[in-house]
Amino acid sequence: MSFQIPRGTQDILPGEVEKWQFIENTARELCSRYQYKEIRTPIFEHTELFARGVGESTDIVQKEMYTFEDRKGRSITLRPEGTASTVRAFVEKKLYANPSQPTKLYYIGPMFRYERPQTGRFRQFVQFGIEALGSHDPAIDAEVISLAMSLYQSLGLKSIKLVINSLGDGESRKAHREALIAHFQPRIGEFCSDCQKRLEQNPLRILDCKKDRDHELMETAPSILEFLNEESKQYFNKVQQYLTSNGIPFEVDPRLVRGLDYYNHTAFEIMSNAEGFGAITTLCGGGRYNGLTQEIGGPETPGIGFALSIERLLAALDAEDVALPISSNIDCYMVTMGDQAKDRAVSLLFDMRKAGLKAEKDYEDKKIKAQLKAADRHKAKFVAILGDDELERNVVAVKNMETGAQEEIAIDELITYLKQF
Ligand code: HAM
Repeated sequence: MSFQIPRGTQDILPGEVEKWQFIENTARELCSRYQYKEIRTPIFEHTELFARGVGESTDIVQKEMYTFEDRKGRSITLRPEGTASTVRAFVEKKLYANPSQPTKLYYIGPMFRYERPQTGRFRQFVQFGIEALGSHDPAIDAEVISLAMSLYQSLGLKSIKLVINSLGDGESRKAHREALIAHFQPRIGEFCSDCQKRLEQNPLRILDCKKDRDHELMETAPSILEFLNEESKQYFNKVQQYLTSNGIPFEVDPRLVRGLDYYNHTAFEIMSNAEGFGAITTLCGGGRYNGLTQEIGGPETPGIGFALSIERLLAALDAEDVALPISSNIDCYMVTMGDQAKDRAVSLLFDMRKAGLKAEKDYEDKKIKAQLKAADRHKAKFVAILGDDELERNVVAVKNMETGAQEEIAIDELITYLKQF
């Protein structure tokens, strides 16, 4: 019997995994500069958290969750995203009581959605996300957007585009909602069954429908921007002002509604413009969610964040032909001849590693030529050759693989010698 990996998942093997590590390290470093601290929440939560948090009317909750009963009959769901869990932890662990606010958190970890797999769309994918809880300041909106843009830029992506919108506050959304119902209701029969349900549940979702995207009523649907009240307008203007004054170019797209229910005010996505990038061009999505903390049973706390997947980021790097600066060099490969030399090499190898050097040797009793080939494959900076003859004289032959220069060094000096490079 042979086994295959489940559809929509990936094995990330050596050779590829270094890219993931590089991106994750860059993200962590960036978070430290912006003072976001890591939070790790469980991979699964009570289903109700996502139903409430992400929203009953969303595709995620209706069609995409990996939900199962545990042995005691409780409904459990593999997390489809990180915001609801982060806010749950913020409320449950009373992080709002910490004198230092806003609470700025980040996460990197696997998320699960039962979607149709295609380029850039997986059933298990890794999100890097940040959440800032506790501030109404539009400067935080700009900060969150700036961090996402910085990650892409520092990794070398050039063809990216930031699109923003405002979904307004409760009052603005209510007015918009009524206008949407009035707009779609007379001809809702021409829309898919999902949209017919959405009309009552959350008509904003209709604008996000993949099936009815080309219906003429979509084009003429009332724009949220026409319904923003004064406060929401001012808020949105201030966010734009911060972006502009900090050299972050953007487009405003009144049709950007996002696929999760918790958003209000600022919503944004970062897309790839790269030629040859697949059909799904959104690399990152986020926005403000001022009502979510209360929805999850906590005190009223504003919040904003984003998430992006490493999978789509890698696809964008590929599309733009960006090579990450990953070095897989090792410091020293030990080549040995003879049994005594081999034993001595084992101890030398252990010592090198204790001293912080990256070192390797052959474990298959290969011939010298094959050992030298292996040293090449490991991209060794130095090869240390030890035969019984050298051992007798207490020396080792060291070859600098870059220059080709070779010299004999006292065995006891080897580590000091290698460490100077
Ligand atoms: P989202 O738009 O559902 O938002 O997902 C954010 C990002 O996750 C997407 O832009 C994409 O990079 C990645 N992503 C989503 N689904 C998949 C998939 N099936 N395969 C690969 N990548 C995928 C959220 O998840 C919100 N929690 C973002 C947020 C945080 N809003 C506020 N704070």
